[in-house]
Order: sequence, then C-alpha cells, then structure tokens
Amino acid sequence: MPKKVLVLYYSQTGQLKNVIDSFISKLPDEDVSVHVRAIEPVESYPYPWNFYDFADEFAEAVHVDGCEVKEVEFLDNDYDLIILGYTIWFLAPSSPIVGFLKTEQAKKIFHDKPVITLIACRDMWVMAQEKMKSLLTGLNANLIDNVALTDQGKGIYSLITTPKWLLSGNKDAFWFFPPAGILQSDIENASRFGVRLNEALKNDKHMSGEPLLSNLGAVNIDGKLIAAEKIATRSANIWAKLIKLCGNKKSFGRKIIMTFYSLFLVALAFTVIPISIIIRKIVNSFQEEKLKNLAKKYEEPSGR
Ligand SMILES: Cc1cc2nc3c(=O)[nH]c(=O)nc-3n(C[C@H](O)[C@H](O)[C@H](O)COP(=O)(O)O)c2cc1C
Repeated sequence: MPKKVLVLYYSQTGQLKNVIDSFISKLPDEDVSVHVRAIEPVESYPYPWNFYDFADEFAEAVHVDGCEVKEVEFLDNDYDLIILGYTIWFLAPSSPIVGFLKTEQAKKIFHDKPVITLIACRDMWVMAQEKMKSLLTGLNANLIDNVALTDQGKGIYSLITTPKWLLSGNKDAFWFFPPAGILQSDIENASRFGVRLNEALKNDKHMSGEPLLSNLGAVNIDGKLIAAEKIATRSANIWAKLIKLCGNKKSFGRKIIMTFYSLFLVALAFTVIPISIIIRKIVNSFQEEKLKNLAKKYEEPSGR
C-alpha cells in the first residue's frame, strides 16, 4: 500500500518552509506521497514586525493560548504519518500552530497518528517542545521523532541578530555579528531525514512507535542552557499574567507594561544575567554528568 504523509506548518519569513522543502525533497516516490499544507491565521501577523506588535504577542504565546486559524483545505483522514513544522514564539510553539492544534480539525487528523515535530528557531526550543508534547498528548497523537534546527549565531549573537531580522526584515551580517537565521548548509542537509523516512515508511517502521530518525543529529541540546530556559519560562509565565491584567492586546495598558518589561529585560541583560552566567559556569563545572543526562532526556525521542 502506498504511504501518505501530511506536512503541516506555519512559516512567516519562509525559513521553516525552506527547511521543510529540504526535509521532504527526497521523501516522495511511487510508494510515498506527501501533502504539504500551510496553517493560516485568520488575522495575519506582520513581517517585519513593529516593536509593539511583536511585544503584544508575548503574553498569549507564553500562555499557549493560540490564535484563530482558517480551516485547512484539502485534508484527508487517512495519513500514515504527520510532520508538524513549527517555530518558537517566546519559549512556546508559535500561536498559529497552537491555534490549529486546538481545532476540531486537528482532533480528527492527529488522533492515533505517528507525528514528527520539525522545529526551526533561534536557539531556545526545549521548553516549547514540552508544551508541544502536552498538546499532542491531548490529541492522542504519538510523537515519535523531533528534529530541531537553530540559528547560526549561537547564544548571545542570535539574541541580537534574530530580533533585528524580525523587526527590520534584514538578515545580513553586521559588525562582528553573523547573518541571522539557520545556515544554508544546515537547511540543505535536512534532506537526510527524508531519505531515512522514505525507507522507514516502506518497511512499515512508522507503526512501531519507535523513533525513525535516530543517529542523524536530529537535535543537539546544550545541557547548560536547560536551567536558563526553565528560569526564563517561569519568569515569562509570571510576566504574561501581569501583562494580561494590564489590558487586552493593543490596549494602552499593555503598551505601558510592555515598555516597562522591555526596559526591565535590558537592565537584567547588563546586571543580573552576566553575574548569573559566571555563577552558573562555576556550578556547572561540578555537575557535568548530571547536565549530560538532562540533555539526553530532552533530546528524546530522536536523540543526537
Ligand atoms: C514573536 C516571536 C517570538 C520568537 N521567540 C523565539 C524564542 O523564544 N525562541 C527561539 O528560539 N526563537 C524565537 N523566535 C524565532 C522563530 O522561532 C523563528 O526562528 C523565526 O520567526 C523565523 O521563522 P519563520 O519560518 O516563521 O520565518 C521568535 C519569533 C517571533 C516572530
């Protein structure tokens, strides 16, 4: 029986779409068909973003509220496997993806299906993937693999280059900063996943519930960053509550609190964060084994 793969995604600048195109470039043949469908918000998001629209999305994204999305057309009910491509917005899956996963349509197509998540983001996706796992569990879907591609400017660099790209529309390198976004070679190399998947589908391995993309470098987590992500997620949750209390999206109250929060973050970046990086470096040097095990846990199901 020929196999049918559904690919769902939401990509604003087209970067995730490029990753998907590469991933599936060697997947289809006479035995495997691939249906690619974009998720579309009812009210489209701006790109490039202006600062307040960008900041306005924070509270709803952090609380995994999702936005209203259009019904996806031309979907069948008999896919053998679903690839869900998503980006990260404020340490959570992007609002259009969350919005879709909360629809009746998602309930139908994800039920009992093996799912591969495919993330393309700046650098912080680990806690978002935990949120994604809960959403998929709620849909009775079976997460069998996760692939994550991150921006070339690792750590501190992409904290500058990614927002600059999203707020200006310009990805180019400047001063000593590399270009924003994922390396073109990393995008091209994503075709290796499609090759493996094609073989696995033909041998009905997708039915086993076991990961199909192991030993391909699907993910690579730095254990030292997990604690930082957990702290950032906890703090974002508290701020998101406070921001919602100050008013609805686009309200004046929100603008005030978001201005205050942004200044607070800048102040943190120059005071508490450098000190905590030094303290963490010292603490981490005493718990390397523990961090390795922690990274391994979050690298499941596909692993490195
Ligand atoms: C509102 C917003 C918030 C974002 N927050 C994060 C984040 O917390 N972590 C992260 O790694 N990337 C973050 N990104 C970057 C995206 O995950 C992604 O790399 C970028 O938006 C390009 O994706 P595209 O394919 O939709 O164009 C954010 C992007 C946007 C627009």
